[in-house]
Amino acid sequence: MSGALRIGIAGIGTVGAGALAILRDHAAMIEARAGQRLEVVAVSMRDPNKPRSVDLSGLKLVPHPEALADEPLDVVVELMGGHEGAAHQLVTRALTRGKHVVSANKALIAHHGMALAALAETHDRVLAFEAAVAGGIPIIAAIRSGLAANRLTRVAGILNGTCNYILSKMLEADADFAEVLAEAGKLGYLEADPALDIDGIDAGHKVSILAALAFGTVPDFAGVKLGGIREVTLRDMHYARDFGYRIKLLGIAERRDEALLQRVEPCLVPVSSPLASVDGAYNAVEVEGDAVGRVVFEGRGAGAGPTGSAVVADLIAIARGDRYPPFTLPTGQLARARALDAAAREGCYYLRLSLKDEPGVLAEFTREFAAQHISVKSIVQREIAEDGSAQVVVVTHHTNEAAMQRVVKSIAALPCTTRTPVLLRIHA
Ligand SMILES: NC(=O)c1ccc[n+]([C@@H]2O[C@H](COP(=O)([O-])OP(=O)(O)OC[C@H]3O[C@@H](n4cnc5c(N)ncnc54)[C@H](OP(=O)(O)O)[C@@H]3O)[C@@H](O)[C@H]2O)c1
Repeated sequence: MSGALRIGIAGIGTVGAGALAILRDHAAMIEARAGQRLEVVAVSMRDPNKPRSVDLSGLKLVPHPEALADEPLDVVVELMGGHEGAAHQLVTRALTRGKHVVSANKALIAHHGMALAALAETHDRVLAFEAAVAGGIPIIAAIRSGLAANRLTRVAGILNGTCNYILSKMLEADADFAEVLAEAGKLGYLEADPALDIDGIDAGHKVSILAALAFGTVPDFAGVKLGGIREVTLRDMHYARDFGYRIKLLGIAERRDEALLQRVEPCLVPVSSPLASVDGAYNAVEVEGDAVGRVVFEGRGAGAGPTGSAVVADLIAIARGDRYPPFTLPTGQLARARALDAAAREGCYYLRLSLKDEPGVLAEFTREFAAQHISVKSIVQREIAEDGSAQVVVVTHHTNEAAMQRVVKSIAALPCTTRTPVLLRIHA
């Protein structure tokens, strides 16, 4: 076996400590699989006096993370987070100085992936980020290798464990969003800035990375239409359940000809779909290819073990000599896909209306569906809400979004409508 692969890690938090523990616990097995010893020789962190769950004695402590790029290392592992500042500087400098880079930082890859991939290419180095999407699920390797024979048409999934935990808990505990959010905060499940999770930004970063890998396009985070879970009500969760659905926050990227539709939004998922039973902090990704059909991956999307597992897998691949462009194709071959508007979507819809509880309203709003040639699968009047309005749920057959938006607009303007209608897409 050749000499050791020398590794420096910036960030010894949840993921850094997890990766280090795996490298130590499975050192002999990893060496056999990698064909080389994987040796962590240097680390960097913000506060060296903080107690750590892993022993750092014997490792060189580098005070400023960017300085890891100047150490005699083969690979720099960036596990600090944030898309600007230290993480961006370190990765840029490490690639420029001829180091391979492994990162778990989806924000960094979503914002700067193209420039960093070009840098990796120029310096003939690997830039690997398996841990950045869906934690322990090897979705990037699957798209790059296992599914490489397919023309992929859609990638969709539950990509944010915090949102999935909150939505699962709302239904399980019959509690509304605010209650569960407060509980999640107390349990330490939220980021310092919870908006990153609950407004769909984190899932949006992952969608842009998956889309680039799956479709051979330039990563386009700005082109992801972001939606979160703040507006998801227990009432809609109950109604959805009664219709045979669950509400999940999905990240979805679809290719239509040469254009891309990327979005993050709460969707109704049929209970028969594997995504419907993915609860708590788990992630799942479904990929559709022309030859393979639909393939679904499920597993832990976060935590020291799962994310560390993905980081170490990237290190083993580097040690073995696997070389591939960060987004599967060389940057010069990545297409700049046109971003499709949500109006281009086609599918089924869930619409909840709040209407005056009086005769004749059914005829009034159903006329609007007929006017747009939208075929309705079911209409059910539910209870009378606290404000005295009748709750009516409509589930449509397959239709197009533009027509659906017109219906929502015209129903919202009807005199019998008491509140803005709630429109959710149904994922099939
Ligand atoms: N946690 C997960 O389950 C998970 C899953 C997938 C991806 N990720 C990604 O993995 C990365 C790390 O996440 P994490 O959960 O491990 O974070 P974390 O627990 O907060 O750890 C961050 C580490 O980076 C260090 N650090 C932060 N800013 C620094 C700076 N400016 N200079 C030097 N050191 C700095 C911190 O030092 P101190 O310890 O001294 O404060 C800490 O050791 C992020 O990009 C995150 O999005 C995390």
